[in-house]
Amino acid sequence: MSTRLEAFRTKAEDLVNAHPIVRANSYCAWFAQGDLCRDDVRHLTVQFSVFSQWFIQAQLRKVLNATSLESYREGKEILMNELGVVFRADSPGRTAGKDVDPELVGVEGTVEGGTYHHRAAHFEWLIRFAEPLGLGFNALGKRRHGTPSTLHFVDELSRIYGSEDYSTGAGASYAVEHWANAGFWKQLVAGLKAFKEKEGLDLSLGFWTWHDQLEQQHADHTDEELEEAFAHPEFDPDRFLAGAREMLDGVQVFWEGLARDAGLAVTAKTQ
Ligand SMILES: [Fe+2]
Repeated sequence: MSTRLEAFRTKAEDLVNAHPIVRANSYCAWFAQGDLCRDDVRHLTVQFSVFSQWFIQAQLRKVLNATSLESYREGKEILMNELGVVFRADSPGRTAGKDVDPELVGVEGTVEGGTYHHRAAHFEWLIRFAEPLGLGFNALGKRRHGTPSTLHFVDELSRIYGSEDYSTGAGASYAVEHWANAGFWKQLVAGLKAFKEKEGLDLSLGFWTWHDQLEQQHADHTDEELEEAFAHPEFDPDRFLAGAREMLDGVQVFWEGLARDAGLAVTAKTQ
């Protein structure tokens, strides 16, 4: 492995690990304790639904701006799965067939030859989760439901993660992976489990638990992706690092918005 690659890897890792939102996420730490009222959970659900729905647009931009057939296909794997094409996995025990429940569908495999099911769309999982909270289809996902900080985040996703510039987009992908690996899904799941128990609500947590499992898979791939980016003919280290930093700044605005809405003190400032 080249020394230049190793030096760059260290630089990228340091940037991500030093970022305030990776170091501490006061909202998720608070949420994980599970001392939540119904409005707390409803607010998270609505804001998360706006992020989750508009992530699809950013992912489509990523596909449209792909610079190779391979990355075009990789982008579509995520996009199509998000929309309801179930991964086909070779390993037994993982199902592709008629199962559309997030508790049952796999987190690995390919959409190539996979089957589309309306009910396997991640947004539909979220709709099912939200129903017992009194949130219907039109209460979720629309831009008009997003707070200014949520909208800032989704617009940054579109601009940076879906960038026309290869290095900027690759840096944002790298940052998003690291963010997701930092454990926020687990914290949300912990809080939601406690809330479900306390309220005696029939909440299907599949949307949250599936994504948590998915991120555990992704953790192994982050290094590979950095290596791929480094070898790409259009790779520019400065634009990669700027893409990563700006994306994490956007992530920070999202969580800090939720923290403020929950009445928590927001200490870390966007750098
Ligand atoms: Fe998803």
